Amino acid sequence: MTEELTTRHILFFGPPGVGKGTQAKMLSARVGVPHISTGDILRSAVAEGTPLGSRAKEIIDAGHLVPDDIMVELVRDVLWKPEAKSGFILDGFPRTLPQAKALTALLADLHINGFVVVELDVDEEELIRRLGNRLVCENDGRIYSMETGGVDGGSPCPDCGGRLVQREDDREETVRKRLRVYHQATAPVLEYYQSLGVLVRVDGRGTAETVHGEITRRLSGEAAR
Ligand code: AP5
Ligand code: MG
Repeated sequence: MTEELTTRHILFFGPPGVGKGTQAKMLSARVGVPHISTGDILRSAVAEGTPLGSRAKEIIDAGHLVPDDIMVELVRDVLWKPEAKSGFILDGFPRTLPQAKALTALLADLHINGFVVVELDVDEEELIRRLGNRLVCENDGRIYSMETGGVDGGSPCPDCGGRLVQREDDREETVRKRLRVYHQATAPVLEYYQSLGVLVRVDGRGTAETVHGEITRRLSGEAAR
């Protein structure tokens, strides 16, 4: 299936709850390139109690953004790793214009010319419903929905038996804050990618499988630049 896609450098973009993580995991398994989620990296740092984690915890729990310099440094380190040499799926970065411009420079340093930004789109009511129903496995980070995934707060992870928990920042008040931050700081980045001609818009409604099918279809037909 990998030969179908025109690029192995893909960015998932969109508001909280739109399905970036779900789709990035599906595509990563299909294409065989790593899924790099800045949110997951930060949450691991928090769980491990590293200096980055201690700094990031309050920011994440409040629904704010971690400062650009920290995020750019973090992503630079990850993208220079050998694991990312054959491609990657970035999820949750960039989230501000300075991050986007820093990423352009970083991709140039890495001699990566072709990349595509997949913007997922879903209405706000659905985003809030999805986040209110999300559970994640504490052990392997898999994402489930109480609405469609046949799990509830007491279920073990169907895959590894780990504990399923609600993310701290999925409380309704914090979700609303994250959505405001998205509209103010992150959505403007779309214009930048539009101007670079790398933006692919995909309707995020429908089942995860339907959306995955549409993404692979579009990435097979879109010329990467
Ligand atoms: P991050 O973890 O990236 O959170 P986010 O962008 O807010 O996005 P989410 O992970 O909440 O949603 P998602 O789009 O991945 O949806 P999912 O697939 O889980 O970042 C968290 C925090 O870290 C930020 O707030 C910030 O503080 C910090 N941070 C991270 N990166 C940063 C950066 N670059 N700069 C500064 N700070 C940064 O799906 C959601 C739910 O919907 C699940 O239950 C899923 O099962 C369900 N679902 C998925 N697809 C479907 C479907 N098609 N139909 C029905 N349900 C579906
Ligand atoms: Mg996510």
